[in-house]
Amino acid sequence: MTRTSTHSPNLAAPRRLFMASALGFVVAAALGALFRFGMLRGDFFGLQAGDLRHAHSHLMLMGWATPALIALITARAPALGLKLPLRATLATGWAALALAALSTPAFALYGYRSAAIGDANIPIAAALSGVAMLVWYAFAALVAIAARRAPDAHAPNPARSLLKIAVGAMVISSVGAWALAAQMITKSGDALSQQLAVHFFVDLFGIGWLLVGALALLRAEIARHPSPTETRARWMLLAGLPLLFLAGMPSAELGPALRILGHVGAALSAAGFVALSLPLWRVLGAWRRVALGFLLASALMLASIAIPPVAHWGQTAGLRLFFLHTAFAGAVTLTLISVAARQFGPSRSPSPATWTLAVALLLSTLLPLTGIWPAALSGRWVLVSALAGALGATILSALATLQALLPRTAPSPTPSQAPRQQ
Ligand code: HEM
Repeated sequence: MTRTSTHSPNLAAPRRLFMASALGFVVAAALGALFRFGMLRGDFFGLQAGDLRHAHSHLMLMGWATPALIALITARAPALGLKLPLRATLATGWAALALAALSTPAFALYGYRSAAIGDANIPIAAALSGVAMLVWYAFAALVAIAARRAPDAHAPNPARSLLKIAVGAMVISSVGAWALAAQMITKSGDALSQQLAVHFFVDLFGIGWLLVGALALLRAEIARHPSPTETRARWMLLAGLPLLFLAGMPSAELGPALRILGHVGAALSAAGFVALSLPLWRVLGAWRRVALGFLLASALMLASIAIPPVAHWGQTAGLRLFFLHTAFAGAVTLTLISVAARQFGPSRSPSPATWTLAVALLLSTLLPLTGIWPAALSGRWVLVSALAGALGATILSALATLQALLPRTAPSPTPSQAPRQQ
């Protein structure tokens, strides 16, 4: 596999977008820490807890994971079998990042509610999110055109096939976001329809776009020939992902038929992820293997959601937050960080070791907040440790980002000369 130096314009531009997105992670992590501080004080600094949570999750999903993934898809386009227009593709990433940054204060202050601007009442965050979705469509169109125009468009390319599933999931998930925004703005819909819209959007966007997109990047790291198992596994993902959100809904809210569909969706998605990830295990180097480990852990959690009593227990034990962070902070984020270290060079991108420590700190302090933790060992310290974990993760990610941004005194080794990430 040939790699070019970050000094080549082809990698310098995606790296700039990647590093700006990493700053988005740091700010979003700080908002998460602020939320934890608010939980401890019992007051969210005059803000509503839900709005602060929205500001955090929106910036993480739209201002970190999405533009960082777009940056790496652009940088790895040849390995993904695509010839993407560099400027136009990166412009969609920058636009996604800028809109996420603009909507963060709006989410924190007003959530989806309208704010009075002069004589008008405008739901600022919802409006900016709507524009952001138009940007996703532009990115999806660029990928679709590049896939159709690829000289080997009909030859099997497993990484490209996964990317197409990921981009398709991004576009389809937006239906949930439009539905939610419409209900919020028109003040229509009941709690159930709002929950359905949120779950459809977050689950398909997060697991379909981000997790499958991360898997596409990992698959693009190796030149192994496509296998019939991979094709079957991709069909499982295609069939399972759109149903998955039903399994995430509180079970009392849905009828038995829909609940069963949700469990089937979780089983198919889990089987697809495991079948596609396991063959990569022996081939990938250490930090990408750590990311793959989190991906497999997320797949195992999905498999457990496929079993109705286990899914019910997981919901009552409040494991959803832990699952989401294992998938998004563990699998997705560490894939992005470890692939960036390979692509841009270890000294020109955030350290995977430091970032892994940040994620481990976050996840280990989230666990005592769940029902898995024995009640006898709970207490106020659980909130203090969650705050410490969030603060620690913020500081470590900030240090790793800063270290990669500092000007180098000596020219950094090109990625091909750099020691392999083992
Ligand atoms: C340093 C890293 C992180 C910290 C400190 C953090 C902290 C938090 C906190 C405090 C909450 C609210 C929890 C509650 O309601 O009790 C939360 C929710 C959430 N976070 Fe994170 N998080 C981090 C990383 C991430 C990443 C990387 C993503 C996605 C890319 C993410 C996505 C979400 C989502 C979607 C929710 C909302 C879950 C829901 O409402 O069901 N977080 N996070």
